[in-house]
Amino acid sequence: MLIRSTKEMLEKAKAGRYAVAAFNAENMEMVQAIVEAAEELKAPVIIQTTSGTLKYATPELYYSMAAAAAQKSEIPVAIHLDHGDSYERAAECLHAGYSSIMIDGSKEPFEKNVEITKEVVKMAHAMHIPVEGELGTVGGKEDSHSVINKTYTEPAEAEEFVKRTHVDSLAVGIGNSHGFYKGKPELRFDILEETNKWVTIPVVLHGASGIPEEDVKKAIEIGIAKVNFATELRDAFSKAVKNYFQKDIDVIDPKKYCSEGRTAVKQLAMRKIEMCGSAGKAVKEEFN
Ligand code: 13P
Repeated sequence: MLIRSTKEMLEKAKAGRYAVAAFNAENMEMVQAIVEAAEELKAPVIIQTTSGTLKYATPELYYSMAAAAAQKSEIPVAIHLDHGDSYERAAECLHAGYSSIMIDGSKEPFEKNVEITKEVVKMAHAMHIPVEGELGTVGGKEDSHSVINKTYTEPAEAEEFVKRTHVDSLAVGIGNSHGFYKGKPELRFDILEETNKWVTIPVVLHGASGIPEEDVKKAIEIGIAKVNFATELRDAFSKAVKNYFQKDIDVIDPKKYCSEGRTAVKQLAMRKIEMCGSAGKAVKEEFN
């Protein structure tokens, strides 16, 4: 299939009470692993890259890898800018062919966040590309984006934010953090429930690495339609490569150790897809 938009994917997920898994990819092997995992489980899937990742390689390169992998598959695959840090970054990704954009103005005061988000929505919607905004901060560090004091999403403010910006999906702060958690994450399901009453668009859970399976499932039951996983994928890839080096320190062929990383990421992505309940949801006719 050709690269698909996240709009239809997330609306179907919300209606069907499951979530689409969104995986951060850093390299070709991770792109391959994500698409292979989704293909095997017949799940729609989102490949995403942060602004930091796009300093490592260009959006054109990531788009091309995702598009090539998607074309060989029978499932809907989207490529999404995760935590877009500026209008220019969003424009760059739109021009490269990205089928979904996030603009993250959550560190800014409410009015400024509305202003930045509105501008990106205007540009993306002119190209029929959906936009994810964020209100309430996700704690922890996601490449250059670091939040020390996380704040919770205010449900009534969320409604106003959606009305004024016309975003297509909304990332919420309910006690979730990027990176591994110190101790058990305390998610505020009450805030999620309330937000879901005020906001009708699909709601997104960031920082899912390390959130226990039952909590991810509970969040999806309440209304989360997209779940983001990054840290656990990087960890799985790196551990598999390190293990390979322990067995064969003289290896010089990157294909040998990178394929171990690819297998580890694929296995992990399959578990996360099952957790999100999206396995079997890539019914071909429905996504044409
Ligand atoms: P984790 O790194 O905690 O999985 O968070 C991923 C994420 O939310 C990317 O935006």
